[in-house]
Amino acid sequence: MNAKFISIEGIEGAGKSTQISFIQQFLEQHGKRVVVTREPGGTELGEQVRELLLMPRETGMSHDAELLLMFAARAEHIHQVIKPALQRGDWVLCDRFVDATFAYQGGGRGIPAARIQTVSDWTLNTLQTDLTLLFDLPVNIGQQRVVKRQQQKDRFEQEKADFFQQIRDCYLQRAADEPDRIRTIDASHDIDTIQQQLRDILTGLLAS
Ligand code: TMP
Repeated sequence: MNAKFISIEGIEGAGKSTQISFIQQFLEQHGKRVVVTREPGGTELGEQVRELLLMPRETGMSHDAELLLMFAARAEHIHQVIKPALQRGDWVLCDRFVDATFAYQGGGRGIPAARIQTVSDWTLNTLQTDLTLLFDLPVNIGQQRVVKRQQQKDRFEQEKADFFQQIRDCYLQRAADEPDRIRTIDASHDIDTIQQQLRDILTGLLAS
């Protein structure tokens, strides 16, 4: 069957959405059924939890509550969507997965990685992505792109540049630690260069 689980990561403004459509099309052209989904979200419960997480709130949210809500949404997502899809033989293309938690709640909020790992082991068991594509770009460029969208900023987008710098550093460190699973793509390149790199990586994955 050989179904694969792919996640897409990056700081705000890295251009994930455009590339997800490209990857989906590429895989479908190669005969794969693809389930496109996202975190936090992907289920009815998960989308409700997403609202709670992203909605700006004057009373704030404790870092542990934020972490556990991410994993609550993820537990439901794994159970209802990801595992059933992989068992059917469908490929799963997920806009963010557990690396986002290490980057945002770990790097950004400062929760120790070992603490996150404990909850991750409990929630994921042995599940991990076969491939994670990290769309990397300097924080100031990402922020300029977000400003251009001109919609109301969510609770994460409202954070300062330092927060995103820590997230970027954490993502890059994870990519350096797991170079086979996490492939970094320079998201400041033009779209043709990025998509050629994606074709090469995905062709390798299809052959594996
Ligand atoms: P999105 O902007 O990619 O849709 O993701 C929603 C926000 O949620 C984004 O700012 C990153 C954040 N997030 C976390 O902080 N931790 C996580 O584990 C996930 C999946 C997302």
